[in-house]
Amino acid sequence: MAAMDLFSSSMFILIIFLLPFSSFAEIRFTEIRNDNRPIIPFDVFGFSHGGRLELNVTHLTLSDSNPDLDLSKVGFFLCTRESWLHVIQQLEEGDISCALQSDLVKPVYTFDSLKKQDRFGVLYSETDADQYTLVFANCLQQFKVSMDVQSAMYNLEGKNARRDYLSAGKTILPRIYFVFSLIYFSLAVVWIHVLYKKRLTVYGIHFFMLAVVILKALNLLCEAEDKSYIKRTGSAHGWDVLFYIFSFLKGITLFTLIVLIGTGWSFLKPYLQDKEKKVLMIVIPLQVVANIAQVVIDETGPFEQEWVTWKQVFLLVDVICCCAVLFPIVWSIKNLREAARTDGKAAVNLMKLTLFRQYYIVVICYIYFTRVVVYALETITSYRYLWTSVVAGELATLAFYVFTGYKFKPEAHNPYFVVDDEEEEAAAEALKLEDEFEL
Ligand SMILES: *[C@@H]1O[C@H](CO)[C@@H](O)[C@H](O)[C@H]1NC(C)=O
Repeated sequence: MAAMDLFSSSMFILIIFLLPFSSFAEIRFTEIRNDNRPIIPFDVFGFSHGGRLELNVTHLTLSDSNPDLDLSKVGFFLCTRESWLHVIQQLEEGDISCALQSDLVKPVYTFDSLKKQDRFGVLYSETDADQYTLVFANCLQQFKVSMDVQSAMYNLEGKNARRDYLSAGKTILPRIYFVFSLIYFSLAVVWIHVLYKKRLTVYGIHFFMLAVVILKALNLLCEAEDKSYIKRTGSAHGWDVLFYIFSFLKGITLFTLIVLIGTGWSFLKPYLQDKEKKVLMIVIPLQVVANIAQVVIDETGPFEQEWVTWKQVFLLVDVICCCAVLFPIVWSIKNLREAARTDGKAAVNLMKLTLFRQYYIVVICYIYFTRVVVYALETITSYRYLWTSVVAGELATLAFYVFTGYKFKPEAHNPYFVVDDEEEEAAAEALKLEDEFEL
């Protein structure tokens, strides 16, 4: 029975080890109450060569104080992803009976060193650079442990041995976010200039786009400050509230913008149809849920039950939002095709149709890249290069913003209405051809 438990929880951790982490190791506080789980993972961190683990355990009580118990089978250790695979193998083959006995793990503290105390503290140095998980193992049967665990992992950097609480590979994130926020602020300035120059052909949607860019810039600025605060202090409570507020506003406005552009609102027609309004009424509340999920995910560790639940909620909500915003674009494409057949302005409609089709494809690419490709990158890159997935995601987002702005910018000479007869005929021909292919 105990062996089965040990095996199943080892498998559970194996799965967890293989997940990419968005968690930023910080100073963490965990309460363990009357727990007999054989394996309890705590936190993951990428150490550079000057890695440190600070572990303080207080209010420690053991369910059994029999002096014959082998307390060297209870304790904390650090382990890398690859080593863990081998440890599980060793356990399965019966070479060892407890993960703490493996020569592949790095024991941090075993309870046989306890001297009738209800607390202990360890400062552990790790000079082998790698990504480690802090794990608690309890290989005794029917042995329950209660304790408050406070852990901090950090790297010592530079000559003055400054503490860096961001995992190796994430430590340059504050700078990356800051640079991107500068880029978006410059984009906002460029956009204001465009709006001023083309002020006679500016629609409501163009001001909305300006708001989206500014919110994105502010969001990145807060994220930079938030991560830099974690880096310096190990605490997530710098600008985190501001960051969540701007994330929320940015999320809502971006999805709304995609829907509004998709419907052609303000430059094709001044009002929204009922079904288009319904899409917004689905997407906006879902964004609220997505943001609550994001807060919970950021505030809890990857090994806590809430983290797993809310991560799933977040993914589900995100997928629904991404699918929902595509509908208005599809409807517009359909309407334009029908209009092209009936009203005889083939060239005008063909241009709009091409534009909307391009937009549809770009939105899909953007969603696919920022969700699937970035996730894949996060999974396959070494912990040292985790920042690359952030850069890839931000670059894709930037490309999407630039494309949207460029394609839907205010036009002094609206190409929709300057069409000569020749173009008109060519377009009518093209649409006819297209109909033949599709029907
Ligand atoms: C652990 O305890 C030491 C000594 O009391 C303290 O300086 C340190 O900040 C504590 N570390 C954590 C992570 O709680």
